[in-house]
Amino acid sequence: MLNGRLGQVATTLLWGIAVVSIGLVACSPSVPVTQTRVSTAPEPVVRLTPAPGVAGDPERGRVTFADKGCVTCHTVRGVPNSTGILGPNLTNVALRPTLTEAGFPNTPDQMARWILDPPAMKPGTIMPNLSLTDQQARDVVAFLYSYPYNPPAR
Ligand code: HEC
Repeated sequence: MLNGRLGQVATTLLWGIAVVSIGLVACSPSVPVTQTRVSTAPEPVVRLTPAPGVAGDPERGRVTFADKGCVTCHTVRGVPNSTGILGPNLTNVALRPTLTEAGFPNTPDQMARWILDPPAMKPGTIMPNLSLTDQQARDVVAFLYSYPYNPPAR
């Protein structure tokens, strides 16, 4: 008698679990978890972290780098249209010990001097004097030196 009663309770419980499980499956979202939503909103502009101790504004330098045509000869990862190959790739150029084939020590000052007047430092170089102001050269240096301090640009 007790066995029969227990069996009845167990059966009822099992049916209950089965019904709840079916309900859960039916209510779960039909969109696969791997599907990502494509947003059309503009990407938020990420401010660059400046390199410590380097004068100049990396944000302005990024703009000058494109405006002055550096992009036509140099590739820098993450800068639109910066796909030039006539000059060296400048992504993370700050990590190189020397600048140009002449081997100038790579310091912010030397890089600014170079950008202001390359033929004055290395006669015969292909890189022209692009008539940057001192401030523009400082900003571009700040931009190039900031690379190792920022997450990899796409
Ligand atoms: C006409 C092509 C050309 C343009 C435009 C140009 N460069 Fe260059 N750049 C070069 C070449 C070529 C070199 C290698 C110089 C050498 O060794 O003679 C160089 C070298 C450099 C270097 C040294 C890199 C290293 O690894 O030694 C820096 C920094 C640099 N350029 C920055 C700039 C910036 C900033 C601009 C824009 C204001 C610019 N360049 C525009 C061709 C160009």
